[in-house]
Amino acid sequence: MSFLLERCEFKELTTDVLSENQSFSCGNADLDDFFLNDATRYAQFLMGKSYCFCLNETPTKIVCALTVSNDSIRIYDLPRSRRDYMRSLTRHEKILKRYPGVLLGRLGVNKDFFGMGIGSEAIDFLKGWFLSRSNKTGCRFLIVDAVNDTRVISFYQKNGFIPLFSSEEQESLYTYGNKGVELKTRLMYFDLLELSLNV
Ligand SMILES: CC(C)(COP(=O)(O)OP(=O)(O)OC[C@H]1O[C@@H](n2cnc3c(N)ncnc32)[C@H](O)[C@@H]1OP(=O)(O)O)[C@@H](O)C(=O)NCCC(=O)NCCS
Repeated sequence: MSFLLERCEFKELTTDVLSENQSFSCGNADLDDFFLNDATRYAQFLMGKSYCFCLNETPTKIVCALTVSNDSIRIYDLPRSRRDYMRSLTRHEKILKRYPGVLLGRLGVNKDFFGMGIGSEAIDFLKGWFLSRSNKTGCRFLIVDAVNDTRVISFYQKNGFIPLFSSEEQESLYTYGNKGVELKTRLMYFDLLELSLNV
């Protein structure tokens, strides 16, 4: 049984939804602040759209919130071995500089619902949503800039995501030109073609 699909309604995170919301918190102050105070303005500026799943029996309760925006994997920002690997995944007559994807910029599950599989269900929903035939543009990868915390990275790995860089040193070097920077986030991706071929 899917809790999100069967017991919740998926909707845009609008000012109306927020004004009725019973205190949403995912336990991360920055994310909470974004969803509650910045998400609608961010959408107005076309920088990212935020959505939420609200509980059917208590519609004022947000179970999970997320933000998505268009993005791409820029292969010239990658080490040569990874660049070759990405090219081999996306075999194409024309060698592209960027491969299309969608960025899951933010994801937060209401603390009251942690550890129930809700975050994983939200990821499954997004995979299906961007694979859907009604999707207006090509979208090969689901991309996340995952908070660099063991539990968060492990959450994304369990959901099939792979780090774009093989180590923190490599990601630091290719992102900041210095391999000693302490990374707040790790770039990870999921190849949607894996699912498309199984449909
Ligand atoms: C990370 C998060 C989305 C996971 O959602 P969830 O519904 O609890 O996750 P699921 O039940 O589908 O999966 C459980 C896995 O999530 C991770 N997880 C569980 N609780 C977590 C927590 N408090 N913080 C971070 N990760 C957690 C663990 O890897 C866990 O696996 P385990 O049970 O084998 O230890 C949710 O904990 C959350 O919103 N955390 C705070 C905000 C955040 O860090 N978001 C990610 C930003 S990139």
